[in-house]
Amino acid sequence: MKTTYTLLSLLSSVSAYSDLVVSSLTTHQPNGSPSGQVNYYSIAFTVNSTNGNSSSSGYCHASWGDNYCAFCNTGVAYSVNVPTGSYISCDSSRANLGDQTSEFGFQLHPYFSIGNFSVSVQQSFTDSSSGSAQQVIASGMIHVTNTTAQYTCTINPQEITSATVHASGDCSIPPNQRPYQISLTTTTTACPPASTVQTSFPVTASTTQGQSIHLTGNISELGNWSPANAIPLYADQYTGSQDLWNGTVGLPAGIAFEYKYFLRDAEGGVRWECCENRRFVVSGSTCGMQTAGNGPDYFRD
Ligand SMILES: *[C@@H]1O[C@H](CO)[C@@H](O)[C@H](O)[C@H]1NC(C)=O
Ligand SMILES: *[C@@H]1O[C@H](CO)[C@@H](O)[C@H](O)[C@H]1NC(C)=O
Ligand SMILES: *[C@@H]1O[C@H](CO)[C@@H](O)[C@H](O)[C@H]1NC(C)=O
Ligand SMILES: *[C@@H]1O[C@H](CO)[C@@H](O)[C@H](O)[C@H]1NC(C)=O
Ligand SMILES: *[C@@H]1O[C@H](CO)[C@@H](O)[C@H](O)[C@H]1NC(C)=O
Ligand SMILES: *[C@@H]1O[C@H](CO)[C@@H](O)[C@H](O)[C@H]1NC(C)=O
Repeated sequence: MKTTYTLLSLLSSVSAYSDLVVSSLTTHQPNGSPSGQVNYYSIAFTVNSTNGNSSSSGYCHASWGDNYCAFCNTGVAYSVNVPTGSYISCDSSRANLGDQTSEFGFQLHPYFSIGNFSVSVQQSFTDSSSGSAQQVIASGMIHVTNTTAQYTCTINPQEITSATVHASGDCSIPPNQRPYQISLTTTTTACPPASTVQTSFPVTASTTQGQSIHLTGNISELGNWSPANAIPLYADQYTGSQDLWNGTVGLPAGIAFEYKYFLRDAEGGVRWECCENRRFVVSGSTCGMQTAGNGPDYFRD
């Protein structure tokens, strides 16, 4: 058994990058009711990847205006306003965060109809497995069509129901067709050596009015453990569903450090998060921004 494992890990370190996996894909078009208040079309899918030394996923979505009644008589049942020709970025999340970011984007192509379209997906990530970091863009295309039962619709893609209400419904990949595998072509660019690497520190922390989250650590760039010289984080992405604080610091490439978050209350009092210090090593090159920790850290009360 041991021999087999060694062989497998040897093989995987020299193998090409793995396919992107589209685990869900849906499109939706409301009926564009006569008064026109629900005129949009949307496409959404989840793409997963194990490239770039971690698993990562993107929730990819776009909405656009559909056929207003001005178009209803033109014999086109689906939106004519499809955004084509450029990559739309997906919301990305990354488990077991490695030392660099991983981003997804997608692009729609003409000809587009509700049950028949092509979508290109690309993933951009950094690969350090060969020693010197390189930026990889891996991309591939799938053609999605309802004619081979790989994609089912509650809607007839050609249907025009009336001059004022057009085709409406949803399409999705049936369970027995999931997931779609997207095979890749890749381009790689060497990441240049850096002196400073922008490093972000996202952390989820539930706070109340007047409280703020700060960061310090054992290097001067992070204030040498002094709350007075700590880095304030920002709550501009803090929402009802996500208690996110975040900030970015330029750090010397290759440096190892320890850090911790603390909460400052309205009166200026400091409450440290518990437990051992966090540790991180800054990459030695600049291919995008780095994120410290394993995805957003969470404030350890
Ligand atoms: C893809 O990633 C999402 C979010 O991280 C996860 O919920 C889902 O199980 C993953 N799917 C596959 C096929 O790995
Ligand atoms: C599906 O799309 C392709 C091009 O992507 C087009 O040639 C074909 O006519 C379309 N089929 C239908 C039924 O609309
Ligand atoms: C994967 O990432 C970890 C953490 O950054 C690193 O220690 C390890 O060397 C990386 N492995 C490869 C094969 O790049
Ligand atoms: C597939 O699309 C055709 C028109 O292009 C339509 O007549 C048919 O109902 C659709 N089938 C399914 C299963 O969605
Ligand atoms: C934190 O901020 C940086 C810089 O704006 C950004 O790239 C990163 O995506 C943010 N992290 C999260 C989890 O939003
Ligand atoms: C900071 O902590 C890291 C990790 O423990 C250590 O390698 C490094 O020497 C420390 N730096 C300083 C300036 O104490």
